Amino acid sequence: GKQIKLKEVEGTLLQPATVDNWSQIQSFEAKPDDLLICTYPKAGTTWIQEIVDMIEQNGDLEKCQRAIIQHRHPFIEWARPPQPSETGFHHVAQVGLKLLSSSNPPALTSQSAKITDLLPPSFWENNCKFLYVARNAKDCMVSYYHFQRMNHMLPDPGTWEEYFETFINGKVVWGSWFDHVKGWWKMKDRYHILFLFYEDIKRDPKHEIRKVMQFMGKNLDETVLDKIVQETSFEKMKENPMTNRSTVSKSIMDQSISSFMRKGTVGDWKNHFTVAQNERFDEIYRKKMEGTFINFCMEL
Ligand code: A3P
Repeated sequence: GKQIKLKEVEGTLLQPATVDNWSQIQSFEAKPDDLLICTYPKAGTTWIQEIVDMIEQNGDLEKCQRAIIQHRHPFIEWARPPQPSETGFHHVAQVGLKLLSSSNPPALTSQSAKITDLLPPSFWENNCKFLYVARNAKDCMVSYYHFQRMNHMLPDPGTWEEYFETFINGKVVWGSWFDHVKGWWKMKDRYHILFLFYEDIKRDPKHEIRKVMQFMGKNLDETVLDKIVQETSFEKMKENPMTNRSTVSKSIMDQSISSFMRKGTVGDWKNHFTVAQNERFDEIYRKKMEGTFINFCMEL
């Protein structure tokens, strides 16, 4: 197995580089018109990033091909932001994580776990827009399991049985799925948060993409929306080198073990959970999510 040693911040496991840069990340200065994409890992981060950029670029796919998605929507948790020379992208300052002022700031991305504790405070202080995407816990677990198998920057997940315990105990990078989803759900009426579900985007992409467009204050034609639906489909994004992580070195992500664009479906958990695991999970879910009334779609 891989010898990756995760570190902790306030009880949440994180990648060592994130923790080493924690004070810099916390002092990130958001601007009032920043849009922050927030997700638990494997909830559809890349998907919503591409949707937001396609909307930003008025459906011009060529413009979205200017750089890989991780550089077009940098993670604020990154120790070192991408250089303009790597991306052809001029909004990102080379020193620190500050964005240069721009009339058209790129969306940022974060997987900060317990939001009130872990997100840089300036996002709250500036009353920024947040776009949160939630995905049902079982599919998230399955996706994260395969991701940890192929991602050499994350610990080996062990067997599926072992990972089941690891995940429900929140011993994964960015902590407990339950805390993450509950935290953002509680905040959604107090801040400018558009709370979306992976399963809804899958079922009716045009409807959800239109919501995102309105949230971003844009107004695009139906034909443009149709094009965005097409270009952000799983099939297209799996083939697209700017979204499928094919440019990432095999020593970091080994896609011969599992593809980054793996299945992109709702309900793959049924191919992984045993009946006993499923019952145990439902029991734990009820306890952990008590008082939080969110209805997740578990199959389409
Ligand atoms: P699976 O492993 O279930 O296939 P993230 O970007 O947050 O790391 O999430 C990755 C998950 O989102 C993967 O799930 C991936 O296949 C899925 N995904 C990425 N793009 C998608 C798309 N256009 N449509 C549906 N699912 C997508």
